[in-house]
Amino acid sequence: MAETNDHSVANGALLFDPPSNLQNEAHVKSMQQYQKMYKQSIEDPETFWREISAQFYWKSPPTGKFFEYNFDVGKGPISIKWMAGAKTNICYNMLDRHIANGLGDKVAFYWEGNDPNDFGKVTYSELLARVCKFSNVLKNLGISRGDRVAIYMPMILDLSVAMLACARIGAIHSIVFAGYSSESLAERILDATCSAIITADGVWRGTKLLNLKKIVDDALKICDEKGHRVEKCVVVRHLSPSDEVVKTNVNGDIEEEPEACRPSRKLKINWQAGRDIWWHEMMTSVSTECEPEWMDAEDPLFMLYTSGSTGKPKGVLHTIGGYMLYTATTFKFVFDYQPEDVYWCTADVGWITGHSYVTYGPLGNGATGLIFEGTPFYPDAGRFWEIVDKYRVTKFYTAPTAIRALMKFGDDFVNKYKRDSLKILGTVGEPINPEAWLWYYRVVGNSKCAIVDTFWQTETGGHVLTPLPGATPTKPGSATFPFFGVIPALLTEEGKVIEGPGEGYLVFKQPWPSLMRTVYGNQERFETTYFKKFPGYYCTGDGAKRDEDGYIWITGRIDDMVNVSGHLLSTAEVESALITHKNVAEAASVSHPHSIKGECIYCFVTLKQGAEYTNDLVTELKNIVRAKIGPFAQPDFLQNAPALPKTRSGKIMRRILRKIAVGDRNLGDTSTLADESVIDVLFQNRPNNA
Ligand code: WT7
Repeated sequence: MAETNDHSVANGALLFDPPSNLQNEAHVKSMQQYQKMYKQSIEDPETFWREISAQFYWKSPPTGKFFEYNFDVGKGPISIKWMAGAKTNICYNMLDRHIANGLGDKVAFYWEGNDPNDFGKVTYSELLARVCKFSNVLKNLGISRGDRVAIYMPMILDLSVAMLACARIGAIHSIVFAGYSSESLAERILDATCSAIITADGVWRGTKLLNLKKIVDDALKICDEKGHRVEKCVVVRHLSPSDEVVKTNVNGDIEEEPEACRPSRKLKINWQAGRDIWWHEMMTSVSTECEPEWMDAEDPLFMLYTSGSTGKPKGVLHTIGGYMLYTATTFKFVFDYQPEDVYWCTADVGWITGHSYVTYGPLGNGATGLIFEGTPFYPDAGRFWEIVDKYRVTKFYTAPTAIRALMKFGDDFVNKYKRDSLKILGTVGEPINPEAWLWYYRVVGNSKCAIVDTFWQTETGGHVLTPLPGATPTKPGSATFPFFGVIPALLTEEGKVIEGPGEGYLVFKQPWPSLMRTVYGNQERFETTYFKKFPGYYCTGDGAKRDEDGYIWITGRIDDMVNVSGHLLSTAEVESALITHKNVAEAASVSHPHSIKGECIYCFVTLKQGAEYTNDLVTELKNIVRAKIGPFAQPDFLQNAPALPKTRSGKIMRRILRKIAVGDRNLGDTSTLADESVIDVLFQNRPNNA
């Protein structure tokens, strides 16, 4: 296959020009055009974003300054405000506004179930009717403006309905990825003091049946025990025609077993009268109209919890106006949105990618999106490409971990399908290795599609470093250049700005509209985590290099975070799970490279006197982490550590543990170790599979 648009550059790296057919129709067609717009966006952000804001509906304009901020802890509290005082409703902007413009019959979402024979769709008008109905349901349950509502749902259309309904009535949604354990869910509900939760009976993921309601029941029990009662639990009947949900008594025993119950689909559901409510029962008697609640641009839209290096998750808070502007604008330019697109982001709505680029970004543009419930491997590793052909997907967005996993299954699963509708392929979540980038480009994209490697975070709300598909020549593995309004800098440990080529801490100099506003209920933690180390900058926690051509390459986290398949976890939260085992005295966990997940977790455990390190113990420890955090957090490696390498002041030297984990004896300076003899013991105890 001829690769007409890639050629080697001086430093040996590949450079890919934007595909010319895409370039002709693109919103931004050249680097000159990008640079001109970029310059305006950073020199006069107010004018740049004011013009963009005119595309949206505002009940009334900002009452004070359009844009105001303080990034310097020395000058008072950190604060970020865009369009404060302006009145709007994001749900109105996602739905009613487009319907008024004639898009009522356009498909808002296609839905593809785990089972390939299970699918559906919803138009903008139908979605609005469902959202209004559910808004009325929420109101009838006593939920109003400012209340926090937890959502723990599978990838079904009702998940979008639930979040948009919250937004419509001014309630703050707190979505928890439905792969988190009941303990993690409870911790998040408690932190936000949610008064209601929305869930579903269960869901199939590949060949696994997950009982979501059971996880929610356990979480609500923990909340009760800690003195916080969640008053209402709304349950979508997703899996089961009525004869397949088996009601149980409080002990979980089946009370009556319907004959029609297929054993493979049997799901036990506990039901707490008064608290638990079927979604479909509530939806029958409510109106399809609901006046939106007119909110301030700076009112909270949602919180989304992300791991913090102390181990306690942080409720990242986003507000309505800025988030709406930025997610819609990045979506438009980064996926070069065109009205006939069928756009598919494979991320779960439980993560920020699903918030910004399954829901708000696409809907903000009146786009047609796709929501997929299943996994890339079910019924086989061709599923993604089968779906691409079925819906003629034009823009596709996934994670490096999925690309690497699919690569292992070989090209045949891809080549079986045409994929000729594809134009842009996006990636997000972790650094993509050039090998996976090239496979994505050559095999999936037939060397015809633009690849956009988008760097951003839960905290940034939307893409901050990214190519523009019709403008930016790309290099495999580089997230290239900043999006409009974003000013990146690389700093030395001492906070000195690195100009030109070099490597350092990745920070940003001024806020763009969707930067997080605070950590929910903990402004101090917000300031300490992101603004203390380098006053005047937002600190990402990532390292990055800049090459001779000005391209930025993310090198990964520089704090104690592990990025497992694009999911950030703190080593501290894994450690606190491990030490709950009665035989564990101390634990330390570090990141270890993994060929598919990118990184995985490697744990060192010190046992209490007299306890024995056995295979059973290893299994128990893995299960504890699964139960406390979620299955995706399960450590890949554990090892017995009779002692841990520590400084004289007792601080664990993780730098050394990371080396031991990979079997690298080049430890660097070990002179600060209190006891060097522990090193040899730890090398001897490495597990055979590491
Ligand atoms: C961390 C943020 C943003 C949605 C998914 C993750 C890493 C993210 C990239 C990329 C290199 C990336 C960073 C970042 N990351 N995208 N394109 N290249 N690294 O959201 O859970 O908040 O994680 O993911 O380390 O800090 P998150």
